[in-house]
Amino acid sequence: MKEKNFVFTIIVMVFVPHVCFACFTDNQEYEYRLKTGSTFYMECRCEQPTSSRIMLQWLDTHDQTIEPSGPGTKSNVYTEWWDEVTYSLYITNISKSISGNYKCVTDYNDQIHYRTYDVEAYDPPYFVNTKEAQYVVSGADALINCEARGETDPLISWHKDGNEPIEITDDSKYEISGLGLLIRNITDEDTGIYKCTANDFETGEEVNIDIKVEVITKPEIEEVTAIPDNVAFEGASIAMDCSARGIPPPEYTWRKVTQNENGSKINYEQVFNRIVFENITASDRGIYECIANNSAGSVSKQIELKVLVPPTITQFNNVTAIEDGTVQVVCKASGIPIPKINLLFLNEETDDHSIVWDSKNISDTETEFYLSFLRVNRQHEGSYICNASNDVESVTSEMHMSVLYKPHFSKPTVNVWGWDSNPVNLTCDYESNPPSNITWRYQGSNISTNVQLEINRRIIENENKVPIDFNNETMYGVYECTATNDYGEAKKIIVFLEGFPPPPIRNVSIQNVTSTSVTFSIEGPEEIPGPNVIGFTSEYDLAENYNITNIHVNRTWAVGNLYRINKLKPNSSYLIKFAAVNDVGAGAWSDSMEFVTLEKSTPEEPIWETDSESISEGILKWRKSDDTDEQIDFYYIRYCPVLDLVLQYELCNLEMIEPTTQFDLNKLESNTTYYFELVAHNSLGNSTVATNYITTPVKEPSTISAAAVLGIVVVIVFLVLLLLDLILLLWRKQGIIASCVNKKKKVKQADKLDERDKKGLLRDNAESTEAKVPANGHKEYEYNKTTGVITGKHSAV
Ligand SMILES: *[C@@H]1O[C@H](CO)[C@@H](O)[C@H](O)[C@H]1NC(C)=O
Ligand SMILES: *[C@@H]1O[C@H](CO)[C@@H](O)[C@H](O)[C@H]1NC(C)=O
Ligand SMILES: *[C@@H]1O[C@H](CO)[C@@H](O)[C@H](O)[C@H]1NC(C)=O
Ligand SMILES: *[C@@H]1O[C@H](CO)[C@@H](O)[C@H](O)[C@H]1NC(C)=O
Ligand SMILES: *[C@@H]1O[C@H](CO)[C@@H](O)[C@H](O)[C@H]1NC(C)=O
Ligand SMILES: *[C@@H]1O[C@H](CO)[C@@H](O)[C@H](O)[C@H]1NC(C)=O
Ligand SMILES: *[C@@H]1O[C@H](CO)[C@@H](O)[C@H](O)[C@H]1NC(C)=O
Ligand SMILES: *[C@@H]1O[C@H](CO)[C@@H](O)[C@H](O)[C@H]1NC(C)=O
Repeated sequence: MKEKNFVFTIIVMVFVPHVCFACFTDNQEYEYRLKTGSTFYMECRCEQPTSSRIMLQWLDTHDQTIEPSGPGTKSNVYTEWWDEVTYSLYITNISKSISGNYKCVTDYNDQIHYRTYDVEAYDPPYFVNTKEAQYVVSGADALINCEARGETDPLISWHKDGNEPIEITDDSKYEISGLGLLIRNITDEDTGIYKCTANDFETGEEVNIDIKVEVITKPEIEEVTAIPDNVAFEGASIAMDCSARGIPPPEYTWRKVTQNENGSKINYEQVFNRIVFENITASDRGIYECIANNSAGSVSKQIELKVLVPPTITQFNNVTAIEDGTVQVVCKASGIPIPKINLLFLNEETDDHSIVWDSKNISDTETEFYLSFLRVNRQHEGSYICNASNDVESVTSEMHMSVLYKPHFSKPTVNVWGWDSNPVNLTCDYESNPPSNITWRYQGSNISTNVQLEINRRIIENENKVPIDFNNETMYGVYECTATNDYGEAKKIIVFLEGFPPPPIRNVSIQNVTSTSVTFSIEGPEEIPGPNVIGFTSEYDLAENYNITNIHVNRTWAVGNLYRINKLKPNSSYLIKFAAVNDVGAGAWSDSMEFVTLEKSTPEEPIWETDSESISEGILKWRKSDDTDEQIDFYYIRYCPVLDLVLQYELCNLEMIEPTTQFDLNKLESNTTYYFELVAHNSLGNSTVATNYITTPVKEPSTISAAAVLGIVVVIVFLVLLLLDLILLLWRKQGIIASCVNKKKKVKQADKLDERDKKGLLRDNAESTEAKVPANGHKEYEYNKTTGVITGKHSAV
């Protein structure tokens, strides 16, 4: 810095009185303005060097004599004789505290003269509140601080850098104030070095400072992303990144916006702008915020982290219910997203209005499903499955509901029959949960004490069974069995009765007679003193033998069967008697009755024996009617395909086959429904027509067998020969074909006739059967999947 000493010299008046011996004889004053810290040097000369005694003295600001001393003294104010007539004052490092009047004094004959030097230190201008690096925000107005202080208010001027610094003056862009430089509407171009100069006019001192101004921008978040995704499975590791622009580069802070449940801890670590979750848990889900911050401001952006948790069933307990009471089955499950629950009952579906259900979300991860049984019954017992599923998975859990109920007897009263040497157990089979205690009571009368004791002993020995293994009339009577558990009791009355064989049957009439069979209608006895009738037995013989011997042919039927006797002789008279049968035995015989079989006749209608197994093997089966003892000569079989549910009469085939009981379906079209008519024939004529619909089995496409290959080869050879023969025929009218032409024509005509006859024969019989096809040729069919048999829906038409 350039220093300027302004020396204000006040009028100097010099008198030179030759008679005096003072060094100077006048008073003079001088002013010096010095920058703080600078050095002041002043000589005081004796202007009368001839005087015998030189008398000079320096006084400081407090009028104290400053003793002469050389340099190196500690004081920064000292004096020194320069030569014999020059006495100098030195002030090094002048400051305000030592500013003031310094005087050089000469004294002669009490005449004192001063040379007064007013030495004042002043401060150069200096900057306050002025930083060398300042930031301004783009887009706004900003003040670049530069404030200076000095002895007076310094004048501030500004320059902007560049090759040739330009002076900044007030205009629309800039405004200069005592506080600094106001720049309007900051842009990036305002970045630069600004020189701020402070000038103190009074002292002429000037200082300047280079201020580096940087334009900063508020952060702007470009992206907040989750890697790999913001939807993660529990246990996965993910990271979330935040990237932002801004000058100076922003700093990043992450925080979780939503509160963690039950105060679980933050589970991530932040590295610069990224947070990393090593092991995601359900409580980590929520909203996270990235805050980008620099000196220009801060911005934030949020991202939601979703966590997927497979469902878990947290509660599905076994329950025990009491019949007719209420119970609730609860299935609780948790997961994210919140699972959906449904309950399945493993037993049969019950359309039960006493069961109601409801569901409720407990929290945003847990849900509950209630199944309320308003009135429990035994059918509700069983296993229930709770199925909880969400987008992640579906899980199931099983529970068992047991129902407690009081004892129950399906038949509260039963009759039990006992008879001669037939051991019987009287049982008390109850249903209950838990099992019941059984007690028995016997209500016999007119029995001896011994018998009563014996009965009591047996009752006590056997819990729910009273074995009666001897025939003792006195044991008959009424027994009462009581089953008791915690939920109630039930009684069962067992009436133990003596059983007898059934009484004679009421009526038998003949229903049907053929040449070899007879069918009866039997009316059993009305009321019986014993077990139910289980069947009927009969003995019969030719009328001429009936009275000759006691040993007859016998036949027994179970109740409900067709009471029919076969293999009788045609055109014969028979005698027969009947008796009813129960567990005790056969009752008394009825009177004998007579019937006469018919004369020999045409065969009975054959009986189909179709089953899916034989049909799938390609065999159609039937059997001879039991009533037919006559020899069957042959069968007629006619089959017609059914296409699109319409019987195709024009495609029918008729075959006459040997007395057999099966027909090969494999020669028919596979997987096709056929209408079959079957007629048995004997020496007297035809039976009625047995009809049936059969779907032929599906032929599995088989690889050509060796035999088939051979067959194909033979056919090809044959065709070649035929071709040769044909050529021969055309060429020479010779060869096998030529010789056959006439013969063949005749044979054909005969065939046709034969066929027409047979068809006519069949149709006569067929007209009497029920399955006649209506004139329009349409018929509806029902297909039975299990047997493969199609039956007409309206077969009575
Ligand atoms: C459970 O429910 C889901 C959705 O309704 C279903 O896809 C799944 O098959 C069910 N699981 C069982 C075992 O029933
Ligand atoms: C629930 O009941 C089932 C069937 O009775 C049984 O196997 C299972 O152990 C029971 N579970 C519990 C927890 O008692
Ligand atoms: C009666 O019960 C006993 C013992 O359980 C058994 O051995 C016997 O065969 C039963 N008698 C009858 C007729 O069921
Ligand atoms: C069944 O019998 C047992 C033992 O005799 C007894 O402890 C129990 O209380 C009885 N239970 C009922 C329901 O009577
Ligand atoms: C026996 O039954 C036949 C046929 O139902 C009937 O005609 C006849 O009158 C009955 N006889 C007696 C005695 O009931
Ligand atoms: C019934 O007849 C068979 C022989 O046909 C004979 O062995 C049996 O003893 C007879 N039964 C009765 C009860 O006569
Ligand atoms: C049937 O029997 C009667 C006598 O019992 C006899 O006259 C008649 O010729 C017999 N009919 C036939 C076809 O044998
Ligand atoms: C058998 O025929 C039925 C009806 O014509 C058809 O739907 C089915 O596909 C056929 N099956 C095979 C194996 O050809």
